[in-house]
This record gives sequence, C-alpha cells and structure tokens, in this order.
Amino acid sequence: MKKKMKRIGVLTSGGDAPGMNAAIRSIVRSAVHYKMEAFGIFRGYEGLINEEMKILDHRSVSNIINRGGTILKTGRSDKFKTAAGRRRAYEVIKRNNIDGLVLIGGDGTYRGGHIFNKEWGVPCIGVPGSIDNDIKGTDFTIGSDTAVNTALEAIDKIRDTATSMERIFIVEVMGRSSGYIAINAALSGGAEDVLIPERKYDMQELCQDIVEGNLRGKMSWIVIVAEGVAKAGDIAKMITDTTSLETRVVTLGHIQRGGSPTARDRTLATRLGAEAVSLLRKGLNAKAVGVIGNKINIVGLGTAVTKKAADVNSLCRLIKILT
Ligand code: F6P
Repeated sequence: MKKKMKRIGVLTSGGDAPGMNAAIRSIVRSAVHYKMEAFGIFRGYEGLINEEMKILDHRSVSNIINRGGTILKTGRSDKFKTAAGRRRAYEVIKRNNIDGLVLIGGDGTYRGGHIFNKEWGVPCIGVPGSIDNDIKGTDFTIGSDTAVNTALEAIDKIRDTATSMERIFIVEVMGRSSGYIAINAALSGGAEDVLIPERKYDMQELCQDIVEGNLRGKMSWIVIVAEGVAKAGDIAKMITDTTSLETRVVTLGHIQRGGSPTARDRTLATRLGAEAVSLLRKGLNAKAVGVIGNKINIVGLGTAVTKKAADVNSLCRLIKILT
C-alpha cells in the first residue's frame, strides 16, 4: 500500500535559474494546501547531507515569484556523488521523517536524484530548472526563456554600437553543451550568424560571408557563439586573421542567469511545481515533470537526464536566409 505523504523536502541544485523561486512557492503552497509539511533544504544536495533545512509555511514564500535566483541557495555537491555522501543524506531524510523529495535543477540534479532513488528508495520528483534547456521530456526548462530574453536585451544594445561604428561583434552566450540560448537569441536579435554545438560550422564560409557582405556595403555583423563551441575571443581572432577586419568580443556570462523571471518561466515553474507535489501524493516515484506542446508531460527521472537532440538545422538556415 502506498504510504501517505506527510512531509516533503524541496531543494534547488546546480546552476540557479530564474523561476526557481516561483517553483519553490508553488511546491510549498501546494503541499500546505494538501495538509503536508514542506521542508526547504538549503544549498542543494550538500545542504541535505549537512541537514541544513527548515519548514517553510505559506507565508515564507510570499513575494518570491518575481525574484531571480533561489531563496534556498544552490550549488553542486561532490559529496553527494559518493555512496557515503548519499548514505548520509538518507540518514538525514529518515531522521527528519521526510517522505519524498522535489528536486529542482538540471541534468546533474536529475542524475543525483536518480541514483539516490535507486539506492535508498526515497521518492524523488524532478522539476527542470536550468537556463540551458537541455533536459529531455520537456519543451522548456525553467529559466531558459528569461535567459534568452536577457541575452536578447544585450544583443539589442550591442547592435546600436555595432551599426554606428560598423563593426563585427562576436557575442558569447551560455548553455554548456546546448545551443538553445544561442539560436533563440540569434533569431530574435536578428544576428547575422550563430555557432552552436549541435551543428558543424565552417569558419571559411563565415569569413567569406563577412567579406562578401562588406563588398555589398554591409559593414556591421553580430555573430552569436554558444559557449559549448568555442571562446568568442578565439572566433574573433580567426575572423580578423582571415579577413583583416577589426572585431569586438562580448561574453555575456552570468548575467544570463539572473533577473526577474519572464511570465513564461513563472507560469511554467508554477505549473510544474504543483504537478511535482501532485505526483508525490499519488505515490509516483523517480519521475520528472515537464511540458510538451503546453501539456504536462511525465517521464522517468533516468530518461530525463539524457540531452535532447535539438532540431536546429532549419533555424540556422533561416538565419542565413535573413542575413
Ligand atoms: O548549467 C547552467 C550554466 O549556467 C551553464 O550555461 C554554464 O555553462 C554553467 O552553468 C556555468 O556554471 P558556473 O556557474 O559554475 O560557472
């Protein structure tokens, strides 16, 4: 018979992402609604091992829906990667009578939750929180929309100076081994080219495009480079070496992780947080929640960790057509 959930724990782990707070709020308030207690676990898996936790009530998550980052703090834990660390985490869970966990984070978080669940049987539900949008089983991860918008805002500003001074800008965006932010920021920002890890790029072709553009009178270029491809500085050097044209480099870095979440991220976080609690109540285990085609989608936690293959060829072609 399935055990009644009386007390759940929630943690954020890995890189923070805008909208994590909206998810925490939704999880805590859903738990309270169903007469469960919600433990906020601080600093991800490390905080779980160190028993850094407190009960969160309805009001303790007031006014956080609009805030970036995570009130629970986050990080990556080397200890949790060891069997001894996970044993310690299990002891903490038992001691505190926690019946299930909601894990908000990216693929590393899911991987940790999956192995922990297999070893100790603690019910775990994953909620995808990552700016990279690289988790299988969901069209979007919480934070990816905000990150694209943050990058876009920067690109719009770069465009002002790029066109005024007729320069080539290479803009590096985050995403680890995913090109999601790069391709979407490039499309929405009207960039002239984009280099992403999912697709081979041809440096000679890029340089030739720039030179030909110059001959037609197109003097300013914005090239978006996903961090998983190369350092923007290296791409800029190759362009200058080949074309003898001046370049400028901007690395957007961690600003892409901050800021108030967009409506889309808040909505997604709110829906998925509530769904995670509902799955725990139903006695489901080792699942990850997501949305596919705007409908809630549930997959195995172990399945969700694998990177999804993004269909990017048509989007890259579109950028080329429009340049
Ligand atoms: O996974 C989120 C992410 O922001 C990646 O896009 C990036 O590669 C990485 O985290 C940066 O990690 P850190 O904050 O540890 O430098």
